[in-house]
Amino acid sequence: MSVARVAEGVINLAVGHPHASLLPRQLLAEGCEAAAAVLATSDSKYDLGYADEQGNDNVLESVATFLSRTGGAAPPVLPTELFITCGVSHGLETVLSVLSRPGDVCVVTCPTYFLAARVLADHQLQLREVSCCDTEGLDFAALEALLEREPVRFLYIVTSHANPTGVTLNADARRCLVALAHKHRFWVLADEVYTYLHWGEPLPPRMRAFDEPDGPADCGVIAMNSFSKMLAPALRCGWVEAPSHVVRALSRRGYVVSGGNPAAFVSRLVVGMLEGGGVEAHLAFLQAALKERCELLQECLRAECETGGVDWDWTPPCGGYFLWLRLPEDVDVEVLVAAARTRFAVSVLPGGACSAVSVAGRKARHVRPCFSFLTLETLREGVSRLATAVRAGRNGDGAN
Ligand SMILES: Cc1ncc(COP(=O)(O)O)c(C=O)c1O
Repeated sequence: MSVARVAEGVINLAVGHPHASLLPRQLLAEGCEAAAAVLATSDSKYDLGYADEQGNDNVLESVATFLSRTGGAAPPVLPTELFITCGVSHGLETVLSVLSRPGDVCVVTCPTYFLAARVLADHQLQLREVSCCDTEGLDFAALEALLEREPVRFLYIVTSHANPTGVTLNADARRCLVALAHKHRFWVLADEVYTYLHWGEPLPPRMRAFDEPDGPADCGVIAMNSFSKMLAPALRCGWVEAPSHVVRALSRRGYVVSGGNPAAFVSRLVVGMLEGGGVEAHLAFLQAALKERCELLQECLRAECETGGVDWDWTPPCGGYFLWLRLPEDVDVEVLVAAARTRFAVSVLPGGACSAVSVAGRKARHVRPCFSFLTLETLREGVSRLATAVRAGRNGDGAN
């Protein structure tokens, strides 16, 4: 069942969507009006014709400028390293359709973004898990041991404010991962979708900044990002940032040669908002709103710890949508999640749902409350219900 659907009255901490009030309605309405005015009078091929395969020049330049402007000390992004997509999911699908063969080995973190695992499975990749750790985001010793054992073709990882852990790969970890990719000749598929939903210390540069500008044919970094989290998921607009030979291969896919770039119309709309400064203004609003929700969530969790006797713990996120909440040792996560939903009217994603590989007997210790989807008041009530469910289970009335 989709985590987006819950029964009437159930508070949904499980779903990783933006709350309606976080969507840039006014900005998009203005963007559409501006685009409509141009459409009515223009005879430019950029508006309604088939787009260039890679994306139209003005779109590529605009996205490259945005990435360079917001990229800190990283070298500027070249338009030749970008391919416009319908989002990260589409980017991953298209990259794999070009570079993968059934049976290729792909490393994923454990836990990981569980829906990306579906895309990897569609390409019949053999998945191997390497655990995340709080500080580095990846257990490098385990990864190196695995790389010595068998050839690996891909490693998929959410590099900043990961879904579900909230962990960000620091600069050393990024450098180390790219060095391993070159040594063992695999592609790092870097999902950067939460990079711009950030507060606190500045983030390390994007993953591509750690790779050679136009590196080897068979390994390195391919990054994917989109406007789904920065603006609105319904736009279905994003980009792949990759060595230019990979970008050329993506542009040669049959469906692209036949239909032109698939995000032609919407990317033109987004460019208007990028160039008018609307995207960065919305990001500033979004960062503040998410930070406020995240802080309130933690305040409520702390209160349940201090006065409610629920000794859960977590690493404070500084971006993204999620908090990875470790439950007390004596709580059976699956039983708790089921009881929380049916008896206490609060839905939360169990940590086990965030594994790409099912391992018999593996016990999850975490749940993944999402702080982007609810209002402050509902978040407060959601935590209170979850804490009640934990206490009820410990008192032996059936939640655990
Ligand atoms: C880590 C991660 N990657 C990708 C996506 C989907 O991105 P897009 O809408 O750009 O396909 C999500 C959505 O929740 C996500 O959490």
